[in-house]
Amino acid sequence: MTSNETKSDPLAGATTLLDPVELHKAVSHVGRQINDYYGEKELTVVAVLHGAIVFTADLIRELRMPVRIETVTASSYHRDARRPGDLVVRMEEKQHLRGRHVLLVDDILDTGGTLSRLREEIAAFEPASLRIAVLLDKPSRREVDVHADFAGHEIPDLFVVGYGLDLDGRYRNLPQILALQPLESDDDASASDTAAENGAN
Ligand code: IMP
Ligand code: MG
Repeated sequence: MTSNETKSDPLAGATTLLDPVELHKAVSHVGRQINDYYGEKELTVVAVLHGAIVFTADLIRELRMPVRIETVTASSYHRDARRPGDLVVRMEEKQHLRGRHVLLVDDILDTGGTLSRLREEIAAFEPASLRIAVLLDKPSRREVDVHADFAGHEIPDLFVVGYGLDLDGRYRNLPQILALQPLESDDDASASDTAAENGAN
């Protein structure tokens, strides 16, 4: 359990949801599922920046088939760091995905908005197959019909940081996953909204 006494610190009262040993087990578990599913087939891993960088770096070292890596940036313009905003997708070479076995890798499946949009955009380039892997899944938050083919852990409706996951760009470097204290209420949160800002997933 991690806690912090400073009131203004967003990590105050945060608790450890998954420590480094548990994370390693979860990543190995996802890696085994992917190895079993694809066998020897070459795989094109598309990491959703920035959140998936740590998970992807560990996951690809569990994979036994030939692997190519691509990235896509999904940024949301949002008024609040903990709430989803309008999604902007940037990907350099989608043509590379035609005819490939594509695995979209993200840190967390929350409302499903990001991965359903990315799935749609990539499907337009006619990959041989398209699957989704996530480290964390928050099924209780789902708003869009999308499910992870390979997933590490289901978690409750908590805002988490660390191991690639951020709050307003910070804490991605933490080696464990921390669950933050819930926001006081939606009314308080919208009252404190400031100018829109650009945040990367
Ligand atoms: P979705 O589009 O609502 O499924 O959200 C996906 C994106 O929101 C993820 O790729 C994350 O960047 C971000 N996100 C969702 N939940 C959390 C969280 O608990 N902590 C940090 N980022 C989150
Ligand atoms: Mg994010």
